Amino acid sequence: MPLDIVVGAQWGDEGKGRVVDLLSRGADITARYNGGDNAGHTVTIGDCIYKLHLIPSGFIHPGTTGVLGNGMVINPQTLLGEMDMLRQAGVEVAADRLFIADAAALITPAHRLLDTAQEAALRGGQIGTTGRGIGPAYVDKVSRRGMRIGEMLDLASFKDRLDEHLSTIDTELRNRYQHPGLDRKEISRVLIENAATLQPYIRRVGPIVRQALMDDRVVLAEAAQGTLLDLEQGTYPFVTSSCTTAAGVFSGLGIGISPVRHVVGVTKSFQTRVGAGPFPTELTGADAVALRGTGSNPWDEYGTTTGRPRRVGWLDLPLLRYAVEINGVTELFLTKLDVLSGFTEIPICTAYRLNGREVSTMETTADARSLGMVEPIFTSLPGWKEDLRPMRDHNQFPEAARGYVEFIEKACGVPVRWISVGPERNAVVEKAGE
Ligand code: IMP
Repeated sequence: MPLDIVVGAQWGDEGKGRVVDLLSRGADITARYNGGDNAGHTVTIGDCIYKLHLIPSGFIHPGTTGVLGNGMVINPQTLLGEMDMLRQAGVEVAADRLFIADAAALITPAHRLLDTAQEAALRGGQIGTTGRGIGPAYVDKVSRRGMRIGEMLDLASFKDRLDEHLSTIDTELRNRYQHPGLDRKEISRVLIENAATLQPYIRRVGPIVRQALMDDRVVLAEAAQGTLLDLEQGTYPFVTSSCTTAAGVFSGLGIGISPVRHVVGVTKSFQTRVGAGPFPTELTGADAVALRGTGSNPWDEYGTTTGRPRRVGWLDLPLLRYAVEINGVTELFLTKLDVLSGFTEIPICTAYRLNGREVSTMETTADARSLGMVEPIFTSLPGWKEDLRPMRDHNQFPEAARGYVEFIEKACGVPVRWISVGPERNAVVEKAGE
């Protein structure tokens, strides 16, 4: 029963799209289990760059079936736009290879407006959300008044439920946020049209995934965002509203825990974060620009979903160790090692000082406040000048680059199995086991 899980080991944007693209070549089912179109997964194939927000990145492979799990929150308009984009790129998008969970939560334009209004009202204390309505849609789900994708199967009752939902948010927007109110008729018209188009794709997905696993077919589950944005285990309150860790797979797809084979933790070779919240190793100045890029390349550190410049810093090992523990990571996929070429020395954070005490594990992430108070302790590793981008064999790497990778492996207690050295699909070095 081979279930492989790909999780982000940082604050998202680790490069999971390209990892899933690589690992899903042997997969029968490729599934997303959390979040919504706040995610942006980039896959580069030849000259084509696919930016996916809802459909699992592995779906691009013709032999796979795509599943959008019940743990997700789904904006039908984004989904339909993405389906069209893939069709135009020659990817087959049909109801016998793309399944949308009936129990996934629905995101409407009302949720998006509420998200933006709530953030604006926080004045200075913002989370820096993506404005995609993620929080309000999960709040509706948890409060048990939320709408599910499966409700789209009965258009008459869907319309009634929409009326109720839009009227509730309209009142909240007008009364609490001085908003002029929603165009309820138009929103409802578009969503009903979307519902009719999506109906053939809506299924109960748990039985499909469970059967595949029982038949020994490979299921690749793809997390959105990263461990440190997890609602329970992340840097609360600067987190997203879903379970971004490996644990979310089971409830987010409706499967048992026994089939897990590999848990691949994806981490950049340095640290990035979008939105607000603590970031112990954050950099400013020339080093930050060198890590972030100027935005002239699509793979520079600017948000796929929002276009915001990402905050950048040196790799934080206490946080990475924490992600390895929380997810039960069996191997790491290290991305963007090529970006570190040219630094004379590369600082790497090995521990923190907190209230005069040295801490080396992430006992402090229980809340954002204590993580905001730590002082990072760095070890400086030798840098290298060579351009890693043309290299496809780990043994070609300069000694210092190999040393950097080994330092991470020792600190985390798990092997780094793959290293990416460029955005192209084949710019990945598989590191043989010792
Ligand atoms: P939300 O998920 O839009 O509610 O945003 C909550 C926090 O998670 C904000 O700090 C966002 O910047 C961050 N976030 C959400 N999705 C992503 C992602 O895919 N990559 C990186 N950060 C994200």
